[in-house]
Amino acid sequence: MNATVLLTAVDINIPGYRILRPIGEGGMASVFLAVQESLDREVALKVMSPVLAANAEFASRFVVEGKITAKLQHPNLVTVFDIGSHNGVYYLAAEYIPGGTLKERITEGGLTVAEILDIASDIAQGLDFAHQKGFVHRDVKPGNVLFRNDGRVVLADFGIAKAMDGSNSSTVAGASIGTPDYMSPEQARGESVDGRSDLYSLGTVLYEMLVGTPPYQASDPFTVALMHVTHPVPTLPVEFEWLQPMITGLMAKLPAERFNTGAAFVEALHKLMDSAPPGANLHASTSRKPGGSNRIAGSSATQQRTRVSLSQKSARPGWIMPAAVGGVVLVVAVVAWQFLPRADVPDGTTPGTSTAVDPSVVTPVQPDGSTGLITSFPSTAVAEAMTPEELENTLTQADVYLKTGTDPENAGRQLTFPDDDSALGLYRKVLASDPANARAKAGVSAIVAYYRRIAHELCSSERWKSCLVTANNGLAIDPSDPTLIKLSEAAGLGDSGEKPTLPVLPAN
Ligand SMILES: Nc1ncnc2c1ncn2[C@@H]1O[C@H](COP(=O)(O)OP(=O)(O)O)[C@@H](O)[C@H]1O
Ligand SMILES: [Mg+2]
Repeated sequence: MNATVLLTAVDINIPGYRILRPIGEGGMASVFLAVQESLDREVALKVMSPVLAANAEFASRFVVEGKITAKLQHPNLVTVFDIGSHNGVYYLAAEYIPGGTLKERITEGGLTVAEILDIASDIAQGLDFAHQKGFVHRDVKPGNVLFRNDGRVVLADFGIAKAMDGSNSSTVAGASIGTPDYMSPEQARGESVDGRSDLYSLGTVLYEMLVGTPPYQASDPFTVALMHVTHPVPTLPVEFEWLQPMITGLMAKLPAERFNTGAAFVEALHKLMDSAPPGANLHASTSRKPGGSNRIAGSSATQQRTRVSLSQKSARPGWIMPAAVGGVVLVVAVVAWQFLPRADVPDGTTPGTSTAVDPSVVTPVQPDGSTGLITSFPSTAVAEAMTPEELENTLTQADVYLKTGTDPENAGRQLTFPDDDSALGLYRKVLASDPANARAKAGVSAIVAYYRRIAHELCSSERWKSCLVTANNGLAIDPSDPTLIKLSEAAGLGDSGEKPTLPVLPAN
């Protein structure tokens, strides 16, 4: 089996959709341009990696994304048409937004200040709508901001959103997803978040649009997350000084000190623009937003062109440590929650205990992933004595799951999830009772080998993000596996545009 086969299997397996071509690849899914045959319309079909689909946490997150987004109809939010699963493959059909992402625009450079403020204002309006309905996006970042043909922007992926009043069971998971570049301090600490967390992220995106790089830069994601908590609100370069109140109002450390709503931000922005200094170079020649009545770029009176230098692209790789995606990132969230100093909350309503330590002594997750804190496949196995017969039965069942789960047809099903009824869960149960059990050890090794193989295939075909997720899922089982460590690092490098050398797969 190779990654191409994986994708082909996915392609032909979704009834009602004809895949036209791949559009992009994210942390947990591949996105295709497809035709929804019943309505003969083009859609963006987001297909979750089959390997990931075997992880129930990913699968349910994917379904949550669809259900939540389907309820949110707004000009600045991507419309979801359909969500479903077929043969264990999860998919979501959304409105196809053809104009590329803000991430690409920032990389290309050349956005004008007026365009930038329009984009920020569009995002804020989409957020405001969703927040009013009780949803938090939690992953506002340039990659999730898409351009319509008329230049308006739409926010995609309420992937990790959850109702603000929902249970906090996924709080830590929610806080842990994706890049830390845009993460609010409360999110970095794994605390519960509300709409103001999205506004913080919007502030970081606004900063990046203006300056060209995200506000906090460090050699590893953990430090970046820490900087969101401890470093002062970033200061804009002098030419954008007049916009500093917007950054400060969005990126204040304490939610209570930020704009309360997206609408409040938009209002403040318009007021500020009315008093923009003559040198602000606000109005730029652009055909990006024709006929936009209330548009900033479109309302240009002067045609003076201004260009913001955005050529400086961050060379820093994304999450390359095992704390990368999904459950594995729990490491960061948990570390953060445990160690990051909490901001002083005047009204003292911060729940839980405060475990402030000097941030300089916080050690990032080691390259071998040996935080020892948590894995994405936590075992509920308790050390209970099993009779020889129970051991035998459990191992037999585990072997069955191992055989089916590593069969390409099943793509990892019941290999590691659910905890009490999967190959990994059952082998661990045996090991809890009989730590030296050779058959159980061999079983766990075979599961790790499976992740090595799939990750290697994905990296070989340069599907870096999927490779990273898969390698890290393997590392969650065995954080010391040298091949998986190398694959995880290679995926991070590949994702940041480098050409990494892949490790040779061991024989087994
Ligand atoms: N509705 C859509 N219309 C057009 N392109 C899309 C759509 N959704 C996603 N994409 C493209 O697919 C890529 C991967 O999306 P996604 O899986 O959400 O990952 P991420 O948000 O991390 O980039 C995006 O960067 C974008 O280029
Ligand atoms: Mg996305």
